[in-house]
Amino acid sequence: MTLSLSLSLSLSLCVCVCVCVCVWQVLLVFAKDDAQSNSFCWACERAGFRCNVARTPEAALESFQEKNHDLIIMDHRHSRYFDAEALCRYVYSTCVCVSVVTQRYVENSNMMSCYNELIQLHHGEIRAQIKLRACNAVFTALEQSQEAIEISSEDQIIQVHTHTHTHTHTHTKHKDRRKGSLDVRSTTSRGSDAGSSQRRHSSMARIHSMTIEAPITKVINIINAAQESSPMPVAEALDRVLEILRTTELYSPQLGTKEEDPHTNDLVGGLMTDGLRRLSGNEYILATKQLHHIPGHLTTPLSLNDIPPCIAQTMENEDSWDFDIFNLESATMKRPLTYLGLKIFSRFGVCEFLSCPEATLRSWLQIIEANYHSSNSYHNSTHAADVLHATAYFLCKERVKQSLDPIDEVAALIAATVHDVDHPGRTNSFLCNAGSELAILYNDTAVLESHHAALAFQITTRDDKCNIFKNMERNEYRTLRQAVIDMVLATEMTKHFEHVNKFVNSINKPLAALEENGSFVCVCAGKCILTAPENRILVKRMLIKCADISNPCRPLELCIEWAGRISEEYFAQTDEEKQQGLPVVMPVFDRNTCSIPKSQISFIDYFITDMFDAWDAFADLPNLMQHLDNNFKYWKSLDEKKLHSLRPPPE
Ligand SMILES: *[C@@H]1O[C@H](CO)[C@@H](O)[C@H](O)[C@H]1NC(C)=O
Ligand SMILES: *[C@@H]1O[C@H](CO)[C@@H](O)[C@H](O)[C@H]1NC(C)=O
Ligand SMILES: *[C@@H]1O[C@H](CO)[C@@H](O)[C@H](O)[C@H]1NC(C)=O
Repeated sequence: MTLSLSLSLSLSLCVCVCVCVCVWQVLLVFAKDDAQSNSFCWACERAGFRCNVARTPEAALESFQEKNHDLIIMDHRHSRYFDAEALCRYVYSTCVCVSVVTQRYVENSNMMSCYNELIQLHHGEIRAQIKLRACNAVFTALEQSQEAIEISSEDQIIQVHTHTHTHTHTHTKHKDRRKGSLDVRSTTSRGSDAGSSQRRHSSMARIHSMTIEAPITKVINIINAAQESSPMPVAEALDRVLEILRTTELYSPQLGTKEEDPHTNDLVGGLMTDGLRRLSGNEYILATKQLHHIPGHLTTPLSLNDIPPCIAQTMENEDSWDFDIFNLESATMKRPLTYLGLKIFSRFGVCEFLSCPEATLRSWLQIIEANYHSSNSYHNSTHAADVLHATAYFLCKERVKQSLDPIDEVAALIAATVHDVDHPGRTNSFLCNAGSELAILYNDTAVLESHHAALAFQITTRDDKCNIFKNMERNEYRTLRQAVIDMVLATEMTKHFEHVNKFVNSINKPLAALEENGSFVCVCAGKCILTAPENRILVKRMLIKCADISNPCRPLELCIEWAGRISEEYFAQTDEEKQQGLPVVMPVFDRNTCSIPKSQISFIDYFITDMFDAWDAFADLPNLMQHLDNNFKYWKSLDEKKLHSLRPPPE
């Protein structure tokens, strides 16, 4: 169970990309063979790149001068062998290529991760970026040079042969690639006179019209263009920006710098990965585990009008945040979702919106609830009812109402109801490790969330009796279905930081900027931010995510009960993993050793605090924040007394 969390930053390798756009030759500069160099060799072979190994800087330079490699990977971990940075500088100064980029790669000798790194370098944004710089450099050369210029392809076939004044294009064979390629580095780096800036500008314009690429590449292009006309400090700052943009995990925090807390580690590992990524190659274990089957029959439908008074009474304050869902769970004999659903859906006029008879809604709620597993200690229908409750509560907040349309509200209530249907009480990582049918069906990607969404629609549309969508107009159904699916998939924790960060950047920050101005003109602008379709999607995702993991914001007693249930479910998973010889995904959740207070503290620190700060800034939730603070202090106090249990022992 190693996540890059524990890797020290000082163990880094220096990757120097020196690129013409050709078949890749890779030079490894490693004083000694070790797991890391072996993995890179293997990765090169697998990727079909040619690979040389050099043991000393001298050998490296000699080899480089001969082969003119496209990628040099230098071992930067042991300064006693050689000075990688000096070697880097030397390569820069002698490089006959059009552009040089350096990157760092943190030590990781997992073969697949080396392979992925190479492939990413080869195909990723970096290559586009390099191409772009190359093009720019070539245009500069074209306009400055009095000489003929030839640009050769990867097979050393000349693509363009041009005289500055004649601009003739011919295609001939060329034997020596190095002679054919040109050193324009020196001309570009010196070209800072006024004319050159204007010229480069037109070069950039040409490059823009040449490339059809991903949005991120467009962004990089724009920044590149801005750099051209910026003073040095700005250009350098933009270099930093580009460096960050080139990483693929744009919305993930840099795990490498997080504290090394095993609870956080396990939660991140258990909730945010698919289990496969954390194992190398062959450790992936194929086993067959039968998932629970859909229960065959339903109990006879009850009538909404004769909800027993004792149940009606427990639901009286369902619009309050402090509503006690566990009372309802016992009063309804474990059918809280059906009853709470009837009440909340009718409060929001869902049947009217869907043009569906109440009897259909009733049957639908019953069959959905029946497909939650009562045997799960956490992910049973009480959790679904709880998330439905939180969703309904959030939907009544002023800002949320301003942002969402009726169809969004209906989608949110439906999504909350079905969001964990048929949950097996095991995490995605477990299902992937166990080679479960679901993991295979969904290619180890968002396995559970995909299943919840797909099954919900299957159950609903299979039988007219419970098909709440059957009277909907086709286009409206498509819109609603899309919104429900999007929200259910948003509950997947691998995307946690992506959703939260997008919300903060697209909604919190612009709204805060408007509020600072405090002008009347802004009311309209604020409305626009709130109701833009792309922002409504972000609001809905954030809403269901917060509802899904709002346990730490509930009143203390409820919070403690939930903590007990989730811990028990994780313990059961660890038990089963041990029993079946599967990798233990979250070792801290071992019933013999686990500190529940510590696990709650880590969960709150890592996932909850920032998210609810953002959600509170948007929706204004003082009571939730008060509970959160209170609960956090409770867990801290238990932890300070070195207690591992849910509650202090009786006096
Ligand atoms: C959910 O699990 C708990 C055990 O943690 C159990 O007491 C409760 O009855 C279950 N609820 C439902 C609706 O199955
Ligand atoms: C899983 O991967 C296969 C092969 O790439 C693909 O054909 C299939 O559509 C994928 N299934 C899902 C559910 O993504
Ligand atoms: C705030 O007000 C200033 C001056 O009135 C204006 O230039 C600026 O665009 C406003 N900011 C936003 C975010 O609207």
